Amino acid sequence: MFDLEKFDIKLETEIVGRNFIYCDEIDSTNKELLSAKQQYKKNGSVILAEKQLSGRGRNNRSWQSAKGLNLTFSVLITKEILSDLNPNHINLAASLSVAEAIENLHQLRTELKWPNDILINKKKVSGILIETSVKGKNVERIVIGIGINLNQTTFQGEFNYPPTSLKLELNSEIDRESMLAEILNIFEERLFNLEKSSVSILNDWRSKCKMIGDKITITENVNIKTGIFYDIDENGYLLLKRNNIIEKIHFGDVSFT
Ligand code: BTN
Repeated sequence: MFDLEKFDIKLETEIVGRNFIYCDEIDSTNKELLSAKQQYKKNGSVILAEKQLSGRGRNNRSWQSAKGLNLTFSVLITKEILSDLNPNHINLAASLSVAEAIENLHQLRTELKWPNDILINKKKVSGILIETSVKGKNVERIVIGIGINLNQTTFQGEFNYPPTSLKLELNSEIDRESMLAEILNIFEERLFNLEKSSVSILNDWRSKCKMIGDKITITENVNIKTGIFYDIDENGYLLLKRNNIIEKIHFGDVSFT
């Protein structure tokens, strides 16, 4: 069982996670927060589920996570602080927060894989799915959904990247409450900094992505492109260099050639 009191003691935020909804089973925490139900209207609301019945992954994949062992949760960012915030920057901030929380609490080296996977020893420990609800031309709500493998030690199914968990990497049980609080504490600080400037998010993300400069393959649906991972641009899009031309990639899966 998730110990709400223990989590609350460790949470040091002003906004993020202050409206906290805990559920046993739900379709998807992202789907739930995107629905504009009254109880989820507050900026920074967080929903944590012990089990998602249809957890969503990027590119229409699913996210499978064993009940009660890991963290599957979503954070809501609303119009109140959204006016100037770019969803791509929020995405980068979220992946950095997860990576830094793992490093702070467990002294493990993490790596980021574009756009927002967190890797340990070249295996995926966490994935992030950002979804928005739009009214006319305006983004009304941004939902950042985070799945992290903490105490699960076996994984079934097909994966486009090999999975791991913190327990597999460290050989010890991971405290879910401390990890969630640490992520939210860092994420809020990153969001507040983003309101001033995106420079440090972009630079910190670059320094944790070891693929920059490497030859990579990008799969965008059926489209496959090979080139050098040149950099990310000011919006966090991937810049791919092929035949001396730099092309901007908005989405896709990166792999080594
Ligand atoms: C990916 O790597 O494909 C992204 C996975 C995102 C999974 C999380 S778990 C909590 C939230 N709710 C969902 O349905 N998906 C995200």
